[in-house]
Amino acid sequence: MKRILVTGGLGYIGSHTVVELQEAGYEVSIIDNLSNSSIDVLDGITRISNKRPHFKQLDLRDKKGLSDYFEVHQNIDGVIHFAASKAVGESVEKPLFYYENNITSLIYLLQNCTKHNIDHFIFSSSCTVYGEPDRLPITEEAPVKLAISPYGNTKQISEEIIQDLCKISDIRSIALRYFNPIGAHPTSEIGELPLGIPQNLVPFITQTAAGVREQLSVFGDDYNTPDGSCIRDYIHVVDLAKAHVVALKRIIDKKEMVSFEIFNIGTGQGNSVLEVVHAFEKVTGQKINYKIVNRRPGDVTSVYADTKKANSELHWKAELTLEEALLSAWKWEQKIRNNN
Ligand code: NAD
Ligand code: UD1
Repeated sequence: MKRILVTGGLGYIGSHTVVELQEAGYEVSIIDNLSNSSIDVLDGITRISNKRPHFKQLDLRDKKGLSDYFEVHQNIDGVIHFAASKAVGESVEKPLFYYENNITSLIYLLQNCTKHNIDHFIFSSSCTVYGEPDRLPITEEAPVKLAISPYGNTKQISEEIIQDLCKISDIRSIALRYFNPIGAHPTSEIGELPLGIPQNLVPFITQTAAGVREQLSVFGDDYNTPDGSCIRDYIHVVDLAKAHVVALKRIIDKKEMVSFEIFNIGTGQGNSVLEVVHAFEKVTGQKINYKIVNRRPGDVTSVYADTKKANSELHWKAELTLEEALLSAWKWEQKIRNNN
């Protein structure tokens, strides 16, 4: 049975991926420093799978600690690397922290992979690398644009670092460029836990519905889209998690075409902010108090994935609907409110 190290495995996407890995028969070890997650997530994972993953609280920037970890745990067959800081606005305020956390962690991790002959590496990238796209839907061939934020830049640099390493080592890697992950596990045992005021749309909607926030601000209705609000590709986090399992299997089975591959992971469907608000209202019966405000600086008009490459090469496709994702997000929000 193969053992996969999941960094950031107690975070939002990591925790859902751990569950899918366990379901697919992998043993899972998690490293997380709990900087943006809670140890309780381990219990949530265990309740879903009836299997407690191995967990080590460790900061990936702790070079000695990480090296010791790999010396002790010689049984790792592959790595899925989620651990990173991800708040776009915060990265503008603290660029050095973002470069340090996201890049140093990656380098130390890859150093250990090469030292211990761990050749399978899946990386969490983002559609943010495409910036304002020239053409829609966005294919993997679309040019990577000058990053708007240090966060976005860390994803671009990370992809380049991995690609360079793949050229001269046995490491084979897949970078998954996520579009907008939303929703929670259908059991409501795990989900997104935003710290403070949510920056992302769906947690802000669910907190508004729960009465934690008074009003949702819709950032602009004067974009060049049918209803004037921005368009994104919202993907259910469970579908996204499954994409990691198939990507991992592809490189374990040596099915890759080149040693470093990139796949868009989205639904292929674009929805506007107002469509999401109205879909949420319809599926949950909750009215959302919202108002249209000015555009948010840095937002691009419209972004959605061309998923043909993932469909044909990974044999993966998003199966869950926007409505299912929004309902799961709402159930999760209710669950965490009831527990507090
Ligand atoms: P998250 O913050 O919920 O999870 C990241 C986890 O990594 C957290 O549990 C955090 O405690 C841990 N971590 C951070 N720095 C660490 C370090 N130095 N050492 C050990 N652990 C550390 O974020 P997420 O939404 O699950 O995102 C996972 C990955 O996907 C990130 O790389 C993120 O940039 C990328 N991504 C996320 C989105 C999104 O919308 N959520 C979109 C595109 C890409
Ligand atoms: C943002 C990041 C992106 C990151 C992604 C997931 C930017 C520019 N991009 O994407 O790099 O990968 O999060 O973490 O920040 N909206 C509102 N009101 C709100 C919140 C959002 O109207 O209160 C709108 C936004 O204008 C946008 C859409 O909802 O049009 C989605 O926003 P969000 O969830 O923040 O994701 P992105 O901006 O697409």
